[in-house]
Amino acid sequence: MPIQTYAFDVYGTLIDTDGVLIFLRQITGDQAEQISATWRSKQLEYSFRRGLMQQYIPFPLVTAEALNYALAVHKVRLTESEHEILLDSYLSLPAFPDALAAIKALADGAQKLFAFSNGPKSTVSALLEQAQLLPYFDGVVSVEATQVFKPSPVVYQHFAEMTETSISTCALVSGNSFDVLGAKAAGMQGIWVQRDAQTVFDPWGVSPDRVIEDLGALIT
Ligand code: 2OP
Repeated sequence: MPIQTYAFDVYGTLIDTDGVLIFLRQITGDQAEQISATWRSKQLEYSFRRGLMQQYIPFPLVTAEALNYALAVHKVRLTESEHEILLDSYLSLPAFPDALAAIKALADGAQKLFAFSNGPKSTVSALLEQAQLLPYFDGVVSVEATQVFKPSPVVYQHFAEMTETSISTCALVSGNSFDVLGAKAAGMQGIWVQRDAQTVFDPWGVSPDRVIEDLGALIT
């Protein structure tokens, strides 16, 4: 099926969440990698749980709660300003090195390009603006209007409606296998970005329609 519209996941696909490590290392030393990993996995777990519980709160608050969990688990106490610096760093995370050239090239192509995220539209737009990516997208679609998170089928259907595209001609591009599986279950095509060959795709008996090592591979 041809692709009419790309849905680019943001955190972990366009934007590198490990960008927080710069500040985490300054503040917590050699615990930084462990705290960052706990922070990211708990952020996603909280979004899954809140979606199921119908207890939606904006993704930045989910991120803040997950940070508090990670700091408690790793027994790290921060000053008020250190805590603020860490949360603010989420607003200015870097793009992956392959993102800008790929999105620029795709912007001249036949497909429509949208950023598609759990994050609120205003937060994601500002994040992509500071990463120099925003001008090349046709728009930003957030899950916020649905009051649930990925991988609920509702959010992928919402994307198709917002972009006025038939869901089968939408292709989700994500480094997060939960997102690719969610998109495929909702009838989208799913392209998995496997930048690290060691990353394992969930063994659910459903494969991505395509696996790419970086976003440049999308440029035909
Ligand atoms: C997103 O950007 C959290 O990566 C996920 O929606």
